[in-house]
Amino acid sequence: MIPHDLRCAYLVDPLAVAPERVRLSWVPGSPQRAYHLELYRNEPWLDSPGTLFWDSGQVESGDCVDVAVDGPALVRGRRYTWRVRVRDAAGDLSEWSDWAAFEVELDPAGGWHASWIGLDRARDRVTPPTGAGPVDPLAKALDPAPYLRRAFSVDRPMASARLYVTALGLYEARLNGQRVGDGFLTPGWTDYTRRVLYQAYDVTGLLVLGENVLGAILADGWYAGFVGFDAKRAGAHYGTAPELLAQLVITFADGAEQRVGTDERWQATVGAIRHADLMMGSREEPSLEPRGWDAPGFAAGAGWLPVRCRDLDAVPVLADPGPPIRVTEEIGPAAISRDAHGRQIVDFGQNLPGWVRLRADGPAGTVVRVRHAEVLDADGSLYTENLRTARQTDEYVLPGGPAVLEPRFTQHGFRYAEITSDVSDMVARVVHSDIGVAGTFESAEPWLDRLSEIIDWGQRGNFISIPTDCPQRDERLGWLGDAQIFARTACYNRDVAAFFGKWLDDVADAQLPSGAFTDIAPLLGARGPGARGPGARGPGAPAWGDAGVIIPWTMWKMYGDRTVLRRHFGAMTAFMDFIEQANPDYLRTRELGNSYNDWLTPGPDQTPPELLATAYWAHDAALMAEIALAAGRADDAAGYRALRAKIGSAFSDAFVTADGRVVSGTQTAYVLALHMGLIPFDLCAAAASHLVAAIEAAGWRLTTGFTGVGYLLPVLSSCGYSDVAWRLLEQRSLPSWRYMADHGATTIWERWDGWTAENGFQSPAMNSFNHYSLGSVGEWLYRFLLGIDQAPGTAGFGDLLLRPHPGPSVRWARGAYRSVRGTVRAGWEVNGEQLTYRVEVPPNATASVRVPSAAPGRVRDGSGRPPVSVAAYLGALGAEEAVFDAGPGIHEFTGPALDVRSRF
Ligand code: BGC
Repeated sequence: MIPHDLRCAYLVDPLAVAPERVRLSWVPGSPQRAYHLELYRNEPWLDSPGTLFWDSGQVESGDCVDVAVDGPALVRGRRYTWRVRVRDAAGDLSEWSDWAAFEVELDPAGGWHASWIGLDRARDRVTPPTGAGPVDPLAKALDPAPYLRRAFSVDRPMASARLYVTALGLYEARLNGQRVGDGFLTPGWTDYTRRVLYQAYDVTGLLVLGENVLGAILADGWYAGFVGFDAKRAGAHYGTAPELLAQLVITFADGAEQRVGTDERWQATVGAIRHADLMMGSREEPSLEPRGWDAPGFAAGAGWLPVRCRDLDAVPVLADPGPPIRVTEEIGPAAISRDAHGRQIVDFGQNLPGWVRLRADGPAGTVVRVRHAEVLDADGSLYTENLRTARQTDEYVLPGGPAVLEPRFTQHGFRYAEITSDVSDMVARVVHSDIGVAGTFESAEPWLDRLSEIIDWGQRGNFISIPTDCPQRDERLGWLGDAQIFARTACYNRDVAAFFGKWLDDVADAQLPSGAFTDIAPLLGARGPGARGPGARGPGAPAWGDAGVIIPWTMWKMYGDRTVLRRHFGAMTAFMDFIEQANPDYLRTRELGNSYNDWLTPGPDQTPPELLATAYWAHDAALMAEIALAAGRADDAAGYRALRAKIGSAFSDAFVTADGRVVSGTQTAYVLALHMGLIPFDLCAAAASHLVAAIEAAGWRLTTGFTGVGYLLPVLSSCGYSDVAWRLLEQRSLPSWRYMADHGATTIWERWDGWTAENGFQSPAMNSFNHYSLGSVGEWLYRFLLGIDQAPGTAGFGDLLLRPHPGPSVRWARGAYRSVRGTVRAGWEVNGEQLTYRVEVPPNATASVRVPSAAPGRVRDGSGRPPVSVAAYLGALGAEEAVFDAGPGIHEFTGPALDVRSRF
């Protein structure tokens, strides 16, 4: 009965939320007809909730997500507690929920009494790495990490303390010898010329009476380090040396405050970290650590310099709306071997993002080197060519005596590590944005479970502050095309509402004055005239720039988030206007940017670029109509429907023939035209059969690249060809998902043929083994195979459509999706001639359950009731489904199974 899982801005009790992002959500324990919220002004040290600030009264609404505080303005820097109770259809009122809390972001203008500080040392840009080779030349080009400190004293008992901190670069905050918080690679990546994000920590327990020391270690990170491949430039995309901004606010019981901010009173030096770079790796010499520097009693003598200090500038410093990057798992070695040169190779059994922690004991001065790679060469040595110029190498100079060693300001994509010297207790620390598990999937077939696991690992491997394309080579960029094709899969796998909420601001920051969204976000600093590469200011390619519409729509669809639609509505309309102005005849033939088209098709990409571009534009217009409606802008919705109709006719005139063929005949051309509703209704069946013929002609294999692949199986299952969808899923020969899995993939590869038995590795110029995009088939596993879907036009999983697409070779499959309205479960099992479909509908949702059957009239629910109706089953031509209405709870349906064997 009692509402639970209370969140603010998708986070649990966040300590800094922008007021406009304060949206409350909860999971009701019963069908909700009305809710009642209470919000209190609170102080962190109070045992009581505080004083009542706003009482919603009873609000007649089933909404339990994206609920605004419709009361007095929230006060910056203050804490609020809240609780909720709900009334069900019978009029019964639940108990009050447990208390939840949030604190409001500091005033970006007046809330900071601190300055940017850094190590006062002029620094030139480092020289670019040239090819492979030992780490040393590079180490000479990178600078040691600055250590910054300030001692201060507290002379009376404290009630609470908050540390607000960020960096241009990366920071690790220290207070009285302790690390503050459990986040890594903070503050994450944004375009630091547009916005800087800070984190807030409760540090009450770390302070003492008397002398205290606040400190931080800085590193170059995305700000001043190596990122991307722009001209193989040597880092410094945004600035040349890291800086810190911090403000400690101590509150006493009488409400008085003491602040300690970064200013000219701080001192700086360098220590054990000789260099630390996200791509290149790090080098530490523990013997150079100024021991005790971050704790009281330390005498900061010679070697500690006054800091360089500058005032805050116009770039806003804002609360981080995303989830922190954390160590989410530790994985020990699966095997240890020697390569042909006798070097020790540790296999962690999983391609992962993060680093290795180890214990070493050796004479002082011994160098321990850890090199990382995703795959091994034929002689058992690390294969690093595909890393391009990224070194992924960590080094330690042993202090003498035992030491536990791990880097903190780098990040590697690897499964294998080559480790010199005598070490023990090696552990791979998995480091990525802490996006909780949302979906679970299991079946009778290990290969299918494996596929779902490697899709999820691809996501974990790349969701690191932003959705990167790959976590290992010299790239690691937020490519919009990859993100949009995978976004729905990403939501089924993991809780990414806050993650994408943060990144959509990066996408908006990158938007060009023309209105065009870009290929990547955040943009890198290379923006001047003549700049080339992805950081340069050109419009995004079709299917890349379009992410600026597709992803907000996906957030609304999956989370019922209207706030994100309103926040980005202006940016989205500017993008739509940009395309329309350039293409007044409604065929998108101009402003195609880098036109990557159907990127990385297994063979030649024969889909005409203007076809793909126009299809995506039509899709954008259709989504914009839904977006406008959901955002309360009915007039705009009508405008976008009209636009969609014009693009639709232009598309069919240009690309669809009278017999339902789509120009070029590629699988992607059919898939896009069908998915985006661009085939006249009476020709859809013909177009779908042409698509199947194209698949058959390819030997029942797919020929799609990044752009078509995500919609391929959903289109087949929506057009009566789930048998063909299954056939592609089961396909073991190239190109196929199973080929990867059969050949040792533990994450989705960038290319279907990343490695083949015939040719070995693909060209090292572009061959990542951890690229999530082709994993966009994950959406089909949840939405179609298990049948966890929503009624068309609805969002936020209140109105479920549960319709499974069982396959011929799998006896059972089941899974769950933790939606914003609670967990939806679905699973099917075939026993002889009988199909059983079991579902669980969460308390505040209803479902239309559609059970495909050879005799739908004979399907029964758990109480023996027949279906309310029989309808055409979309998954198989001519087949039917039994339709049931289901309320909250667990339901089971059994009836004669449909013959789902392939008809071909
Ligand atoms: C990236 C892709 C990206 C593409 C653009 C590649 O280098 O790895 O994932 O979308 O460039 O075509």
